[in-house]
Amino acid sequence: MAKIAPSLLSADFADLKNEIKKVEEGGADYLHLDVMDGIYVPNITFGPPVIKRLRRVTRLPFDVHLMIDRPERYIENFVEAGADIITIHQEATIHLHRTIQQIKSYGIKAGVSLNPGTAISNLEYILGDIDLILVMTVNPGFGGQSFIESMGKKIRDLRKIIDQEKSDIILEVDGGVKLENAEKILKWGADLLVVGSDIFNAEDVLERTKKFKSL
Ligand code: DX5
Ligand code: ZN
Repeated sequence: MAKIAPSLLSADFADLKNEIKKVEEGGADYLHLDVMDGIYVPNITFGPPVIKRLRRVTRLPFDVHLMIDRPERYIENFVEAGADIITIHQEATIHLHRTIQQIKSYGIKAGVSLNPGTAISNLEYILGDIDLILVMTVNPGFGGQSFIESMGKKIRDLRKIIDQEKSDIILEVDGGVKLENAEKILKWGADLLVVGSDIFNAEDVLERTKKFKSL
């Protein structure tokens, strides 16, 4: 069964509680929370206060994807809000290793995200320190974009590296994941699929979630 992390970015922001209930009932494994600051990416979403309130309405683990500049300034706030995984972008923090240690010092999982143009080699010396790699298969900032096909190689290359290292790093893929391409992405070796628009724009969010889970 596929592991999925529905992204709230395309959900009805006026009805988040019910939107979450639907994906939870549909079997979602995590809730993917896209935090954007209007600086690192050209869009603004929500921050710790919203996440803190959502923490009370679901048991799903929170997979917090920080698309913010210098995330080290806010790690504590997101931990307090209830993050179970915090993923930062390699380019957004000057001292990547230090920020990863900072996240892990709270006893939660630390992930690093790679933009489409960012090389895998940036992670070479920190592979032993991270719990998750988030491969961006669109440029971050917006939901509903098209999957960048050339990222297939990056996913397959990372799968090989993770297996060679006998590591249990979670390989997560984010951006443009749809029912039509999800199986292919799983075959390439992804462990966890982020799905935004293809779940929350569906007529029946619960059924759509179940369909992803059954892959
Ligand atoms: C994009 C976000 C994604 C996005 C995925 O910057 O990181 O999580 O919401 O949405 P879809 O599935 O619509 O591409
Ligand atoms: Zn995301």
